[in-house]
Amino acid sequence: MEFNKIGVVGCGQMGSGIVEVAAKAGLEVLAMEITDELIEKGRSRIEKSLGRAVDKGKLSAEDKDAIMGRIKFTSNLDNFADSDLVVEAVTEDLKTKLETFVTLDRVCKPETALASNTSSLSITELAAGTNRPGRFIGLHFFNPVPVMKLVEVVKTVATDEEVIASARAFAEKVGKVPVLAKDGGGFIVNRLLVPYLFDAILVYQNGLATKEDIDNGMKFGCGHPMGPLELNDFIGLDTMYYIGEILFEEFKEPRFAPPPLLKRMVQAGYLGRKTGRGFYDYSK
Ligand code: CAA
Repeated sequence: MEFNKIGVVGCGQMGSGIVEVAAKAGLEVLAMEITDELIEKGRSRIEKSLGRAVDKGKLSAEDKDAIMGRIKFTSNLDNFADSDLVVEAVTEDLKTKLETFVTLDRVCKPETALASNTSSLSITELAAGTNRPGRFIGLHFFNPVPVMKLVEVVKTVATDEEVIASARAFAEKVGKVPVLAKDGGGFIVNRLLVPYLFDAILVYQNGLATKEDIDNGMKFGCGHPMGPLELNDFIGLDTMYYIGEILFEEFKEPRFAPPPLLKRMVQAGYLGRKTGRGFYDYSK
């Protein structure tokens, strides 16, 4: 089955990026947010991101208008009834996601595939909340979605082979490189990335080097686009803490335990770029 009519629930940072790449690939997209204000925020985030490409001469103004024309917005999940694929990108909270999927399962036609963009929750647990575990899959995009080339396609023991194939084809269609992972804590990338990012916080906490030198070490020694402390700030320190708690709960291994300094920073409201302060100061 080809996924042509795409629904995206949640139009925040990740959701709006998914909407953008799908519409850019020529697909009809319906995006959902709960209030008119959040719909406007989502729309302007997409406009801004496409506008950047126009300014750089990488996209024509006409193509930008055509892409925006393929995107419709709604505040009602009932409107996803006819979608081929609905990707959920709501807040990273099990209860909120489960409630969303229970409703989608009720309103969508039986053939609709449901996908979660979760980075850390169990796809199996989300799928079990629906009556269509065979048509349930993980589609984990990376931030910033328009730039990062990867999508983790996450299968459970119940996911139909046909849905896996369609999900991979969808990821390729929107210009991404799909990798297939089983549903296990952190999938591939966060399972490897989170211990590294926590280690950077631990060595900084222990006074090994300045934050700038830790970041420069990985940027200029290993060719990473961002150093680990910068990347912690970029992802969001609250998000890092939350993912760490889930992975530690799953594996009970110290390398997944959020470092004490991370906890204190979250408690202090230093959440990284989004609050203007994390390991670095972004207020200016
Ligand atoms: N939306 C759209 N385009 C964007 C963008 C955004 N938010 N941010 C940057 N870009 C584009 C720019 O337009 C530019 O495009 P061109 O090359 O076509 O001109 C390109 O990206 C580079 O941008 P900049 O020159 O402005 O900035 P940069 O070179 O410093 O790159 C970056 C910014 C792409 C974010 C880069 O620093 C990077 O790749 N950082 C690492 C990001 C990363 O690791 N993300 C994964 C996080 S982990 C995750 O998401 C999973 C999880 O579950 C936690």
